[in-house]
Amino acid sequence: MTVADLLPPGISGIHVLPADHHDGPWDSMIVPPGTKERLLGTAVLVLRHGRALRSLSGPPHGLVVLSGPPGTGKTTLCQGLAQAAAAAVAARGTTTFVELDPHAFPGEMLGESQRAVRRLFTETLPELAARRPHTVVLVDEVEALAVRRSAASFETNPVDVHRATDAVLAGLDLLRDACPHLLLLATTNLTGAVDEAFLSRADLVLELDLPDTDVLARIVASSLAELATLWPGLRPLAEDTPLHAKLATACAGFDGRRMRKTVLAAVAQRPELAADPERLTADDLLAAVDAAVDVAVDVAAIPAVTA
Ligand SMILES: Nc1ncnc2c1ncn2[C@@H]1O[C@H](COP(=O)(O)OP(=O)(O)O)[C@@H](O)[C@H]1O
Ligand SMILES: [Mg+2]
Repeated sequence: MTVADLLPPGISGIHVLPADHHDGPWDSMIVPPGTKERLLGTAVLVLRHGRALRSLSGPPHGLVVLSGPPGTGKTTLCQGLAQAAAAAVAARGTTTFVELDPHAFPGEMLGESQRAVRRLFTETLPELAARRPHTVVLVDEVEALAVRRSAASFETNPVDVHRATDAVLAGLDLLRDACPHLLLLATTNLTGAVDEAFLSRADLVLELDLPDTDVLARIVASSLAELATLWPGLRPLAEDTPLHAKLATACAGFDGRRMRKTVLAAVAQRPELAADPERLTADDLLAAVDAAVDVAVDVAAIPAVTA
Protein backbone atom coordinates (compact mmCIF):
# COMPACT_ATOMS: atom_id res chain seq x y z
CA MET A 1 0.00 0.00 0.00
CA THR A 2 1.37 3.44 -0.92
CA VAL A 3 0.63 6.82 0.63
CA ALA A 4 -1.59 7.60 -2.38
CA ASP A 5 -3.85 4.67 -1.39
CA LEU A 6 -4.59 6.41 1.91
CA LEU A 7 -5.70 9.66 0.25
CA PRO A 8 -9.27 10.24 -0.94
CA PRO A 9 -9.76 9.63 -4.71
CA GLY A 10 -8.49 12.49 -6.89
CA ILE A 11 -6.23 13.91 -4.17
CA SER A 12 -2.46 13.60 -4.52
CA GLY A 13 -1.34 15.40 -1.36
CA ILE A 14 -2.54 16.94 1.91
CA HIS A 15 -0.26 19.23 3.95
CA VAL A 16 -0.67 21.31 7.11
CA LEU A 17 0.74 24.84 6.62
CA PRO A 18 2.63 26.93 7.50
CA ALA A 19 5.50 24.43 7.76
CA ASP A 20 9.17 25.37 7.64
CA HIS A 21 10.03 22.85 4.96
CA HIS A 22 7.52 24.57 2.61
CA ASP A 23 9.53 27.79 2.81
CA GLY A 24 11.59 28.44 -0.30
CA PRO A 25 9.44 28.26 -3.45
CA TRP A 26 7.81 31.65 -2.85
CA ASP A 27 11.09 33.52 -2.45
CA SER A 28 12.81 31.59 -5.25
CA MET A 29 10.26 32.71 -7.85
CA ILE A 30 11.25 35.76 -9.91
CA VAL A 31 8.10 37.39 -11.30
CA PRO A 32 7.11 40.89 -12.48
CA PRO A 33 6.73 43.45 -9.68
CA GLY A 34 3.35 43.36 -7.96
CA THR A 35 2.58 39.77 -8.99
CA LYS A 36 3.18 38.21 -5.58
CA GLU A 37 1.34 41.05 -3.84
CA ARG A 38 -1.77 40.52 -5.98
CA LEU A 39 -1.69 36.76 -5.45
CA LEU A 40 -1.19 37.07 -1.71
CA GLY A 41 -3.78 39.85 -1.45
CA THR A 42 -6.44 37.74 -3.18
CA ALA A 43 -5.54 34.72 -1.04
CA VAL A 44 -5.68 36.59 2.27
CA LEU A 45 -8.97 38.30 1.35
CA VAL A 46 -10.65 34.94 0.62
CA LEU A 47 -9.11 33.02 3.54
CA ARG A 48 -9.79 35.72 6.14
CA HIS A 49 -12.96 37.40 4.91
CA GLY A 50 -14.56 34.85 2.54
CA ARG A 51 -17.48 34.27 4.89
CA ALA A 52 -18.21 37.98 5.44
CA LEU A 53 -17.92 38.74 1.72
CA ARG A 54 -20.77 36.32 1.01
CA SER A 55 -23.15 39.24 1.67
CA LEU A 56 -21.81 41.17 -1.36
CA SER A 57 -23.82 41.24 -4.60
CA GLY A 58 -20.77 39.84 -6.39
CA PRO A 59 -18.98 37.71 -3.81
CA PRO A 60 -15.59 36.21 -4.74
CA HIS A 61 -15.48 32.66 -6.03
CA GLY A 62 -12.21 32.06 -4.23
CA LEU A 63 -10.65 31.02 -7.54
CA VAL A 64 -7.23 32.09 -8.84
CA VAL A 65 -6.08 30.86 -12.28
CA LEU A 66 -2.42 30.92 -13.39
CA SER A 67 -1.78 30.33 -17.08
CA GLY A 68 1.37 30.23 -19.17
CA PRO A 69 3.79 27.97 -21.06
CA PRO A 70 5.27 24.92 -19.27
CA GLY A 71 8.23 25.66 -17.02
CA THR A 72 7.20 29.24 -16.18
CA GLY A 73 6.76 28.45 -12.50
CA LYS A 74 2.98 28.13 -12.19
CA THR A 75 3.00 25.07 -9.94
CA THR A 76 5.89 26.38 -7.83
CA LEU A 77 4.21 29.77 -7.43
CA CYS A 78 0.97 28.11 -6.25
CA GLN A 79 2.83 25.94 -3.75
CA GLY A 80 4.70 29.01 -2.53
CA LEU A 81 1.48 31.01 -2.32
CA ALA A 82 -0.16 28.34 -0.16
CA GLN A 83 2.69 28.61 2.36
CA ALA A 84 2.87 32.44 2.19
CA ALA A 85 -0.91 32.78 2.62
CA ALA A 86 -0.92 30.23 5.46
CA ALA A 87 1.81 32.25 7.19
CA ALA A 88 -0.15 35.48 6.68
CA VAL A 89 -3.27 34.08 8.40
CA ALA A 90 -1.45 31.84 10.91
CA ALA A 91 -2.51 33.94 13.91
CA ARG A 92 -6.06 32.68 13.29
CA GLY A 93 -5.10 29.02 12.85
CA THR A 94 -3.47 26.57 10.49
CA THR A 95 -4.19 25.91 6.82
CA THR A 96 -4.89 22.63 5.04
CA PHE A 97 -3.20 22.57 1.63
CA VAL A 98 -4.79 20.02 -0.68
CA GLU A 99 -3.28 19.05 -4.04
CA LEU A 100 -5.72 17.54 -6.55
CA ASP A 101 -4.73 15.18 -9.33
CA PRO A 102 -6.88 16.17 -12.32
CA HIS A 103 -5.56 13.15 -14.23
CA ALA A 104 -7.17 10.88 -11.66
CA PHE A 105 -10.36 10.92 -13.71
CA PRO A 106 -9.50 9.29 -17.03
CA GLY A 107 -11.16 10.65 -20.14
CA GLU A 108 -12.50 7.30 -21.36
CA MET A 109 -14.60 7.10 -18.24
CA LEU A 110 -16.04 10.58 -18.35
CA GLY A 111 -19.50 9.41 -17.31
CA GLU A 112 -17.89 7.88 -14.25
CA SER A 113 -15.51 10.78 -13.74
CA GLN A 114 -18.40 13.23 -13.76
CA ARG A 115 -19.72 11.51 -10.65
CA ALA A 116 -16.22 11.41 -9.18
CA VAL A 117 -15.74 15.14 -9.83
CA ARG A 118 -19.08 15.94 -8.23
CA ARG A 119 -18.20 13.84 -5.17
CA LEU A 120 -14.88 15.64 -4.92
CA PHE A 121 -16.45 19.10 -4.87
CA THR A 122 -19.54 18.31 -2.80
CA GLU A 123 -18.18 15.80 -0.28
CA THR A 124 -14.40 15.36 -0.15
CA LEU A 125 -13.33 19.02 -0.27
CA PRO A 126 -16.03 20.35 2.12
CA GLU A 127 -15.09 17.57 4.59
CA LEU A 128 -11.41 18.52 4.36
CA ALA A 129 -12.27 22.22 4.66
CA ALA A 130 -14.13 21.55 7.91
CA ARG A 131 -10.93 20.30 9.59
CA ARG A 132 -9.01 23.58 9.92
CA PRO A 133 -9.81 27.32 9.84
CA HIS A 134 -8.25 27.78 6.37
CA THR A 135 -8.06 25.64 3.24
CA VAL A 136 -6.14 26.08 -0.01
CA VAL A 137 -6.74 23.64 -2.89
CA LEU A 138 -4.43 23.35 -5.90
CA VAL A 139 -5.83 21.98 -9.18
CA ASP A 140 -2.71 21.65 -11.29
CA GLU A 141 -3.26 21.56 -15.08
CA VAL A 142 -6.96 22.20 -14.71
CA GLU A 143 -7.60 21.73 -18.44
CA ALA A 144 -7.72 18.01 -17.71
CA LEU A 145 -10.82 18.65 -15.60
CA ALA A 146 -12.48 21.65 -17.19
CA VAL A 147 -12.24 20.95 -20.93
CA ARG A 148 -13.60 23.83 -22.93
CA ARG A 149 -17.07 22.88 -24.04
CA SER A 150 -16.95 24.64 -27.40
CA ALA A 151 -13.70 22.85 -28.32
CA ALA A 152 -14.81 19.40 -27.21
CA SER A 153 -14.83 17.07 -30.19
CA PHE A 154 -18.23 15.71 -31.04
CA GLU A 155 -16.67 12.39 -31.98
CA THR A 156 -15.15 11.72 -28.58
CA ASN A 157 -18.23 11.27 -26.47
CA PRO A 158 -19.24 14.97 -26.45
CA VAL A 159 -22.11 14.52 -24.05
CA ASP A 160 -19.79 13.15 -21.39
CA VAL A 161 -17.20 15.89 -21.95
CA HIS A 162 -19.91 18.51 -21.49
CA ARG A 163 -21.26 16.76 -18.44
CA ALA A 164 -17.82 16.52 -16.86
CA THR A 165 -17.25 20.25 -17.43
CA ASP A 166 -20.70 21.03 -16.08
CA ALA A 167 -19.90 18.92 -13.04
CA VAL A 168 -16.78 20.99 -12.40
CA LEU A 169 -18.67 24.29 -12.77
CA ALA A 170 -21.60 23.13 -10.64
CA GLY A 171 -19.11 21.76 -8.11
CA LEU A 172 -17.31 25.08 -8.00
CA ASP A 173 -20.54 26.96 -7.28
CA LEU A 174 -21.55 24.47 -4.58
CA LEU A 175 -18.08 24.66 -3.04
CA ARG A 176 -18.25 28.47 -2.98
CA ASP A 177 -21.58 28.32 -1.14
CA ALA A 178 -20.47 25.63 1.30
CA CYS A 179 -16.92 26.95 1.89
CA PRO A 180 -16.71 30.66 0.98
CA HIS A 181 -13.36 30.89 2.78
CA LEU A 182 -11.72 28.13 0.69
CA LEU A 183 -9.12 29.25 -1.83
CA LEU A 184 -8.91 27.28 -5.08
CA LEU A 185 -5.73 27.72 -7.13
CA ALA A 186 -5.75 26.40 -10.68
CA THR A 187 -2.93 26.26 -13.22
CA THR A 188 -3.10 25.67 -16.96
CA ASN A 189 -0.56 25.36 -19.75
CA LEU A 190 -3.18 26.21 -22.36
CA THR A 191 -5.68 28.92 -21.53
CA GLY A 192 -7.49 28.23 -24.80
CA ALA A 193 -8.61 24.79 -23.61
CA VAL A 194 -10.13 25.90 -20.33
CA ASP A 195 -13.84 26.55 -20.22
CA GLU A 196 -14.71 30.28 -20.47
CA ALA A 197 -17.32 29.85 -17.76
CA PHE A 198 -14.59 28.52 -15.48
CA LEU A 199 -12.27 31.44 -16.27
CA SER A 200 -15.06 33.96 -15.79
CA ARG A 201 -15.52 32.69 -12.22
CA ALA A 202 -11.90 33.46 -11.38
CA ASP A 203 -11.22 36.37 -9.02
CA LEU A 204 -7.72 36.68 -10.49
CA VAL A 205 -6.35 35.34 -13.79
CA LEU A 206 -2.59 35.70 -14.03
CA GLU A 207 -0.69 35.08 -17.24
CA LEU A 208 2.97 34.14 -16.84
CA ASP A 209 5.29 34.74 -19.80
CA LEU A 210 8.59 33.11 -20.67
CA PRO A 211 11.32 34.92 -18.72
CA ASP A 212 13.21 37.70 -20.54
CA THR A 213 17.02 37.77 -20.34
CA ASP A 214 16.97 39.96 -17.24
CA VAL A 215 14.79 37.44 -15.39
CA LEU A 216 16.89 34.55 -16.78
CA ALA A 217 20.01 36.22 -15.36
CA ARG A 218 18.33 36.48 -11.96
CA ILE A 219 17.31 32.81 -12.16
CA VAL A 220 20.98 31.92 -12.87
CA ALA A 221 22.03 34.06 -9.88
CA SER A 222 19.39 32.45 -7.66
CA SER A 223 20.35 28.91 -8.76
CA LEU A 224 24.05 29.58 -8.09
CA ALA A 225 23.26 31.26 -4.74
CA GLU A 226 21.33 28.14 -3.68
CA LEU A 227 24.31 25.96 -4.65
CA ALA A 228 26.63 28.34 -2.76
CA THR A 229 24.66 27.75 0.45
CA LEU A 230 25.68 24.08 0.11
CA TRP A 231 29.20 24.76 -1.25
CA PRO A 232 30.46 28.19 -0.09
CA GLY A 233 33.37 28.03 -2.55
CA LEU A 234 30.80 28.80 -5.27
CA ARG A 235 30.04 32.23 -3.81
CA PRO A 236 32.25 34.16 -6.30
CA LEU A 237 30.36 32.58 -9.23
CA ALA A 238 27.03 33.33 -7.50
CA GLU A 239 28.05 37.00 -7.29
CA ASP A 240 29.45 37.33 -10.83
CA THR A 241 26.66 39.46 -12.34
CA PRO A 242 28.33 39.96 -15.77
CA LEU A 243 28.66 36.16 -16.09
CA HIS A 244 24.95 35.68 -15.23
CA ALA A 245 24.03 38.19 -17.96
CA LYS A 246 26.25 36.41 -20.50
CA LEU A 247 24.72 33.01 -19.68
CA ALA A 248 21.19 34.47 -19.82
CA THR A 249 21.77 36.05 -23.22
CA ALA A 250 22.95 32.70 -24.60
CA CYS A 251 19.81 31.06 -23.17
CA ALA A 252 17.26 33.51 -24.63
CA GLY A 253 13.92 31.74 -25.03
CA PHE A 254 14.52 29.23 -22.22
CA ASP A 255 11.78 28.75 -19.64
CA GLY A 256 12.65 29.06 -15.95
CA ARG A 257 12.78 25.31 -15.38
CA ARG A 258 15.23 24.81 -18.24
CA MET A 259 17.43 27.65 -16.98
CA ARG A 260 17.67 26.14 -13.48
CA LYS A 261 18.33 22.67 -14.91
CA THR A 262 21.13 24.05 -17.11
CA VAL A 263 22.95 25.45 -14.07
CA LEU A 264 22.64 22.09 -12.35
CA ALA A 265 23.75 20.29 -15.51
CA ALA A 266 26.98 22.30 -15.41
CA VAL A 267 27.88 20.58 -12.13
CA ALA A 268 27.00 17.17 -13.59
CA GLN A 269 29.23 17.46 -16.67
CA ARG A 270 32.07 15.37 -15.19
CA PRO A 271 32.12 12.85 -12.33
CA GLU A 272 34.97 14.64 -10.50
CA LEU A 273 33.06 17.94 -10.69
CA ALA A 274 29.85 16.30 -9.48
CA ALA A 275 31.80 14.80 -6.56
CA ASP A 276 33.24 18.20 -5.66
CA PRO A 277 30.96 21.00 -7.03
CA GLU A 278 33.21 23.72 -5.59
CA ARG A 279 35.50 23.09 -8.59
CA LEU A 280 32.82 24.58 -10.92
CA THR A 281 34.18 27.37 -13.16
CA ALA A 282 32.66 30.01 -15.44
CA ASP A 283 33.87 27.93 -18.41
CA ASP A 284 31.95 24.90 -17.10
CA LEU A 285 28.80 27.04 -16.96
CA LEU A 286 29.35 28.36 -20.48
CA ALA A 287 29.94 24.81 -21.79
CA ALA A 288 26.72 23.58 -20.12
CA VAL A 289 24.80 26.46 -21.72
CA ASP A 290 26.26 25.60 -25.15
CA ALA A 291 25.15 21.99 -24.74
CA ALA A 292 21.66 23.03 -23.59
CA VAL A 293 21.25 25.47 -26.50
CA ASP A 294 22.29 22.70 -28.96
CA VAL A 295 19.59 20.43 -27.54
CA ALA A 296 17.03 23.23 -27.82
CA VAL A 297 17.93 23.72 -31.50
CA ASP A 298 17.66 19.97 -32.16
CA VAL A 299 14.22 19.86 -30.55
CA ALA A 300 13.09 22.87 -32.62
CA ALA A 301 14.16 21.00 -35.77
CA ILE A 302 11.77 18.12 -35.10
CA PRO A 303 8.69 18.75 -37.27
CA ALA A 304 5.62 19.66 -35.24
CA VAL A 305 2.95 16.95 -35.13
CA THR A 306 -0.30 18.31 -36.45
CA ALA A 307 -3.60 16.79 -35.45
N1 LIG B 1 10.23 33.01 -13.06
C1 LIG B 1 10.92 32.04 -12.40
N2 LIG B 1 11.77 32.37 -11.40
C2 LIG B 1 12.44 31.44 -10.72
N3 LIG B 1 12.36 30.12 -10.97
C3 LIG B 1 11.54 29.72 -11.95
C4 LIG B 1 10.78 30.65 -12.73
N4 LIG B 1 10.04 29.97 -13.64
C5 LIG B 1 10.32 28.67 -13.43
N5 LIG B 1 11.21 28.50 -12.43
C6 LIG B 1 11.72 27.23 -11.90
O1 LIG B 1 11.43 26.22 -12.84
C7 LIG B 1 11.00 25.03 -12.17
C8 LIG B 1 9.70 24.54 -12.78
O2 LIG B 1 8.64 25.37 -12.46
P1 LIG B 1 7.13 24.84 -12.43
O3 LIG B 1 6.45 25.53 -11.29
O4 LIG B 1 7.09 23.36 -12.42
O5 LIG B 1 6.56 25.38 -13.81
P2 LIG B 1 5.14 25.10 -14.49
O6 LIG B 1 4.21 24.60 -13.45
O7 LIG B 1 4.74 26.44 -15.06
O8 LIG B 1 5.40 24.10 -15.58
C9 LIG B 1 10.92 25.33 -10.70
O9 LIG B 1 12.09 24.81 -10.10
C10 LIG B 1 10.95 26.85 -10.63
O10 LIG B 1 11.60 27.26 -9.49
MG1 LIG C 1 3.23 22.75 -13.45
